[in-house]
Amino acid sequence: MRGKTILITGGAGFIGSHLATHFSTHNIVTVLDDLSSGSRDNLKGLELRFVKGSILNRRLVKHLCKGTDFVFHLAAMASVQSSIADPERCFRVNVDGSLNLLKAAVEGKVKKFIFSSSAAVYGESPELPKRETMLPVPISPYAASKLAVEHQCIVYNKLYGLPFVCLRLFNVYGPKQDPKSQYSGVISKFIAAALAKQPLIVFGDGLQTRDFVYVGDVVNSFEAAIRDGNGIFNIASGATTTINGLASVLVRITHSSSSIIHKPGKPGDIMHSRASIRKAVSKLKWIPRMQLARGLAETVTWQNQKV
Ligand SMILES: NC(=O)c1ccc[n+]([C@@H]2O[C@H](COP(=O)([O-])OP(=O)(O)OC[C@H]3O[C@@H](n4cnc5c(N)ncnc54)[C@H](O)[C@@H]3O)[C@@H](O)[C@H]2O)c1
Repeated sequence: MRGKTILITGGAGFIGSHLATHFSTHNIVTVLDDLSSGSRDNLKGLELRFVKGSILNRRLVKHLCKGTDFVFHLAAMASVQSSIADPERCFRVNVDGSLNLLKAAVEGKVKKFIFSSSAAVYGESPELPKRETMLPVPISPYAASKLAVEHQCIVYNKLYGLPFVCLRLFNVYGPKQDPKSQYSGVISKFIAAALAKQPLIVFGDGLQTRDFVYVGDVVNSFEAAIRDGNGIFNIASGATTTINGLASVLVRITHSSSSIIHKPGKPGDIMHSRASIRKAVSKLKWIPRMQLARGLAETVTWQNQKV
């Protein structure tokens, strides 16, 4: 894609900064981020406009959406645990903030609105693999907020014809994920512990499974989402790994002497997660390409350079 105007909310964060890197080479990119969990360092050297501000600022959001081709909406309180601690703030940022953007996108005649939803919406439903047609059973304010925004996207499409795609991202990993952040994923935390020869802490029995997807594949899913269709799509690898298995692999590939220890599970954590990615493959023509072993090695290399 070339020559388009793109607004990336949350573009200074982990996933958003990969999108900014990818799209800013041939397009006119604006990043809106309040830096509550993201960092300007993630955008170093990129040719784009950075606006420090919140998606809760209606006037700002309206101004930025005007005449923009595509909105990639990633800004959020992106942590299940923080959402349990402060559900009001979670809904204010994730739901009210998203509504500001949807309204502004309609007024600004945005061509497509791409929303980063989450596998968390499936919550407790025991069925595997998770399919987009299943009834979501959210078990955290974070998951409920993501589902509410998906519904708002559908409503704005029906009422005002705003084209949209909601990408239900599963567990995303890769370079630039900050292991020190409370929002960060298990892979970056395990790598940081292994490199520091600290114990890797597994919450619960470690038999939980997750479907890890590399951030480069996620970037490609946003590009695919622009090209085709409306609707809701799982973005994942379609394969699962146990948390115990992941910990062992990371200890091995970092040549670490770290031990693996267990602590009680966390509320709001789901037991098993695996996606069916058939819908994204058939409708968006998107395929995840990164093998987990290689993706982990690349992430380890990046984190090693940061130490
Ligand atoms: N990382 C994952 O595995 C994963 C999985 C599913 C869904 N997601 C979703 O993808 C998106 C990006 O996640 P991430 O892992 O890159 O998280 P992140 O915390 O690195 O990025 C979120 C960004 O949003 C910004 N932000 C927060 N509140 C804001 C506000 N009010 N106004 C403007 N900016 C604000 C933060 O400063 C940060 O830069 C989030 O919406 C998250 O819910 C992530």
